Parts: sequence; structure tokens; C-alpha cells
Amino acid sequence: MKISRAFEEDIESLCRIEKEHEGYAFWGKAGFEAEFSKPFSVTLKAQEGNLTAGFINFWILRPKTEINTLVVSKSFLRRGIGKALLNKALEYAKKNECNQALLEVSCVNAAAVSLYLSMGFEKISVRPKYYNNTYDALVMAKRIEI
Ligand SMILES: CC(C)(COP(=O)(O)OP(=O)(O)OC[C@H]1O[C@@H](n2cnc3c(N)ncnc32)[C@H](O)[C@@H]1OP(=O)(O)O)[C@@H](O)C(=O)NCCC(=O)NCCS
Repeated sequence: MKISRAFEEDIESLCRIEKEHEGYAFWGKAGFEAEFSKPFSVTLKAQEGNLTAGFINFWILRPKTEINTLVVSKSFLRRGIGKALLNKALEYAKKNECNQALLEVSCVNAAAVSLYLSMGFEKISVRPKYYNNTYDALVMAKRIEI
């Protein structure tokens, strides 16, 4: 697996991956274009051979980084790609002098919550009924040693 920076020419494959996950926040072409135009926004993609297998987007808001989205293609789940993308994002944030990573996740997203806990993120607060006025958002944080 290779992880590298994603650019505008990757938008089509990034949209294809996010569409696979019904119910998950959908950025679409316009959303990705907006992200690529922000100087503090970073998108990394994971590639298996010539296929894009997943991506992560985060903001470098020194001294914090905010993880906005992390999605792995359904055909590549449970192969360590989500973890590898998150690790790379944390590495990137560390190099950019961020000492804390923050993210929000739905309390019913067992896969993601489990991934974040396994990587040392801790729940720091709850936003009640944040998603669809139904599910709570967990705000999770991880300290980055710089
Ligand atoms: C969450 C997501 C990114 C995980 O990607 P992944 O590549 O399958 O995850 P990994 O293979 O790196 O898993 C690492 C660890 O996370 C946990 N995990 C991942 N998927 C899990 C699942 N379905 N159930 C329980 N734990 C899970 C496990 O601890 C796993 O370690 P293990 O495989 O050794 O048990 C993926 O399920 C996804 O794209 N979901 C849809 C989008 C989404 O909800 N993103 C999160 C946004 S907050």
C-alpha cells in the first residue's frame, strides 16, 4: 500500500469511494474542490496497485489538527488501510507542529470509534443528537508528542 497526497485529478475516485458508504457524509466534487482550495486542508490517498483504496482529509490548524473525514473503499476494509491513513495524518500533523488531533464521530459508528480508541484517541465531549437530530457525536482527541 502506498500513501500519498491527493490532488484535483483524484476527485473522481475519492467521490466513488465516499458514495460506497450509504449514509456517510458526502462531499461530492464541489466539496473536494473546496477542500483543495484551502491552504490548511490536506487530503491523503491510499493506493493498492493502481486502485485508490481510501482517503483521509484533515486541517492543519497549528497547534491542532482536525480530522474531517476518513473513508476506506468497501473492497479494502479491515486490511489496516484506515489505520495507516490515520497514522500518516498524525505524522504529517506532528511535522507541522500540531500537538493535538481532534475529530468527531457518530456514537453508532462502531468501526470508526473502535479504530480511534485503538489508536489512542479519547472521548472528550459529546454533542447530543448531532447527526440527523438523532445520534450523538463523540468528540475525540489524541495528544501528539512533538
Ligand atoms: C472506519 C473505517 C475508515 C475503518 O477502515 P479500515 O481500513 O477497515 O480499518 P482498519 O483495517 O485499519 O482497522 C483498524 C482497527 O479498527 C477497528 N475496526 C475497523 N473496522 C472495524 C469494524 N467493522 N468493527 C469493529 N472494529 C473495527 C479494529 O480495532 C481494527 O483493528 P483489527 O482489524 O486489527 O481488529 C471504515 O470502516 C470506513 O471507511 N467506514 C465508513 C466511513 C466512516 O465511517 N469513516 C469514519 C468517519 S468518523
